[in-house]
Amino acid sequence: MNIITIDGPSGSGKGTLATKLAQHYQFQLLDSGAIYRLLGLSLAEQGLLNTLNGNIAEAVHVATHLDIEFIPSNAGILTYLNGQDVSKQIRQEDVGQFASKVAAVAPLRDALLARQRQFATLQGLVADGRDMGTVVFPQAQAKIYLTASVTSRAERRYKQLQAMGVDAKLSAILINIEERDRRDMEREVAPLKPATDAIIIDSSHLSIDTVFNQMCAYIDTKLI
Ligand code: DC
Repeated sequence: MNIITIDGPSGSGKGTLATKLAQHYQFQLLDSGAIYRLLGLSLAEQGLLNTLNGNIAEAVHVATHLDIEFIPSNAGILTYLNGQDVSKQIRQEDVGQFASKVAAVAPLRDALLARQRQFATLQGLVADGRDMGTVVFPQAQAKIYLTASVTSRAERRYKQLQAMGVDAKLSAILINIEERDRRDMEREVAPLKPATDAIIIDSSHLSIDTVFNQMCAYIDTKLI
């Protein structure tokens, strides 16, 4: 079974490229960040987010029983939590922060492993996240680490949010990205880093099409 992993910091273009690659190869798509965002939102709604370590059993229960659905539509993939469309809400910066908090807690990461691995089907998979190539799918055929400078990532995220009609400030996004990078890279469990067998692409000065072509050229040599 073919698995392509794309890891890297937020705003590097992973989401866009993973979507394009999944379409190109006709593979299933896993947006693992969305799963962390959904868990963060769910724990916040239940008042468990700020006392995670004191309520770990309860939080793990929430993670294991998370009622989520990803439904393709003309407007992209719609994301449901407990039957409610939260596609727009989970893209808000505060939910990104919730996700990053959740992501630093080892038992919660473990609780989400099986769910993420279920996305690997015979059809093939493009998995987008932070630890796809290092932890969740170490056996993947093609591993890519996509990065970009903090400034270019903040500008991209700003434009993306604007296009989605989400109100945001560039300076706040920049601080947010730096904070999240630090937390994701310095955490003890599954820190953000390239797998030893990943290729590294810096997209700061490259167009999406250029990055896409570089990725395909690499992936085509790896698929079975
Ligand atoms: O990719 P994203 O911005 O939607 O991810 C939200 C947060 O979830 C991010 O700060 C780190 C965390 N995350 C993770 O730890 N591991 C993953 N595989 C995906 C996301």
